[in-house]
Amino acid sequence: MNKAYIFFLLGFIFSSSVFAASSSVELKPVFIDLGNKASLQRGAQIFFNNCSGCHTLQYHRYSKFVDDLSISEAMVKSNLILTTQKGGEPTKLGSTITNSINHDSIKEAFGVVPPDLTLTARSRGPEWIYTFLTSFYEDNSRPMGVNNILYPNVNMPHVLWYKEGLKTYDENNQLILKVNGQLSQKEYEQEITDLVNFLTYVSEPAQLERYSIGLWVMIFLVFFAFITYLLKIEYWRDIK
Ligand code: HEC
Repeated sequence: MNKAYIFFLLGFIFSSSVFAASSSVELKPVFIDLGNKASLQRGAQIFFNNCSGCHTLQYHRYSKFVDDLSISEAMVKSNLILTTQKGGEPTKLGSTITNSINHDSIKEAFGVVPPDLTLTARSRGPEWIYTFLTSFYEDNSRPMGVNNILYPNVNMPHVLWYKEGLKTYDENNQLILKVNGQLSQKEYEQEITDLVNFLTYVSEPAQLERYSIGLWVMIFLVFFAFITYLLKIEYWRDIK
């Protein structure tokens, strides 16, 4: 490869990354730890208490929480299943996670149907969801009274405002907390981390399995390297 070609390639890479950075808001990092079951359980609780009324997880089943998150069947039935089936009896453990919103009326209220969130952590990325949920601010020109730095003119209300409080821009264009919420900023960010951790697990539950298989593979490799080393000593002993 000649030099000019390499320079051309580098120039292309840099110019495209600068372009990408200038056209989008910087995403905040979030620490995803799928091995932390307590965090995944807290995330599930936050999701079902605050989000499941509008958003479905239609490619996931309640029953998976029993094995994957170690939540007992009774707990899933009493705390996570908040819907009923057509006949009025509670939704079954093996059902997919849908809700009973009427698409026409919710469209009238919000202008759009709230999207299913099963795969959002894969399509948008965990950092995107984390940044989205920490970027609401007061904007009285919007129908919901709030706007979002990452997703301008979003149609979702800031449903967690009672936890976070309400941020607003002061006269110097600085973001300040106008109304306090139940949590400090740090506690709120921790809850959002748990929630995003949960949505990341939901987007690819097989990851949990890969995590545990991965550990066994590492243990095997270390053990195998040791055996190979012993073999090497054994073989070379006579050659010396
Ligand atoms: C009152 C209904 C409502 C509730 C409750 C709600 N949302 Fe939303 N959400 C919406 C609507 C409507 C949109 C679509 C916004 C748009 O496209 O302008 C949305 C969009 C989103 C998006 C963007 C998805 C995408 O790919 O564009 C995410 C992520 C999201 N919501 C997460 C959550 C989480 C997490 C919760 C719980 C803390 C929650 N929402 C609670 C109504 C709701």
